Amino acid sequence: MDEKLALTVGEVHDYWNTHTLGLQYVTDRSVKPGTPQFFAHIRPWMNPYKFPWIMERIDREAKLLKGKHVLELGCGMGYDSLEFLKRGVRVTATDLTPNAVAITRRHFELEKVQAEDIRTANALDLPFPDSTFDAVWANGVLHATGDTPRAIREARRVLKPGGRAIISHFYRKPSWMYLLHHLGRENIEYKEEDPPVNEFYTEKEILDFFQDFEIAEAVQEHHRLLPVRRSGLKAHLYTYVLRPVYNLLPESFAKKFAYKFSVTAIKI
Ligand SMILES: C[S@@+](CC[C@H](N)C(=O)[O-])C[C@H]1O[C@@H](n2cnc3c(N)ncnc32)[C@H](O)[C@@H]1O
Repeated sequence: MDEKLALTVGEVHDYWNTHTLGLQYVTDRSVKPGTPQFFAHIRPWMNPYKFPWIMERIDREAKLLKGKHVLELGCGMGYDSLEFLKRGVRVTATDLTPNAVAITRRHFELEKVQAEDIRTANALDLPFPDSTFDAVWANGVLHATGDTPRAIREARRVLKPGGRAIISHFYRKPSWMYLLHHLGRENIEYKEEDPPVNEFYTEKEILDFFQDFEIAEAVQEHHRLLPVRRSGLKAHLYTYVLRPVYNLLPESFAKKFAYKFSVTAIKI
């Protein structure tokens, strides 16, 4: 890894190690991280429960992957992996940051599920041999690593032939999020600074990353703008300008500006 990318990975690590996805949704200060109340408190804000298509994707994939081995990249607090484990899929859950790994471990203990492994791993330099996994799952992660194509090459390397790369929520452009990203300084979900990396791509650019795969599914994931709990310039632009305007647009037009794009691709 060159020096510039190594520095970026260091910044990404430091940011996410202190901003584990989910912590920003804790509104009740008496709720202590790692307790059963904590996981229940933030659960509605987490991906599979907030975005129904993620749960549907887990359901569909788990039917194909029951008893098989999935690697999750960037597991955050482990909610996606948890849903796979509950459906009889073997899971290795990984994240760049020790804080995410520790909280995922605690989460699985409380839920009484057993992963194959839960460990730190950099998606850009995976500590696994070639052709190890039946599937690689990443949700909202690869565009935040500093080198998306490299992360996809690594995912391909550790997949068995015929294995499934199930990569949800790339950030698409043009999109309302792309516009917002360039308008204000604050991330709409976090009160403090933005993550150091959030790359936006056209659909063609994203599909080009998967040239050595067969595409099984490539979909825009469109939703009307949801409420956020934050204040600040970007949050206000979002709440008082973008959200009401966007939510009034006819569906067919609004969909052109969807910001999430997900790909399932088979290693050939
Ligand atoms: C937006 S969060 C998504 C978390 C989780 N997938 C979810 O949907 O709740 C991005 C996650 O990717 C992790 N991450 C960022 N760069 C990474 C890398 N190079 N390798 C592995 N994980 C990484 C971060 O630590 C963070 O947990």
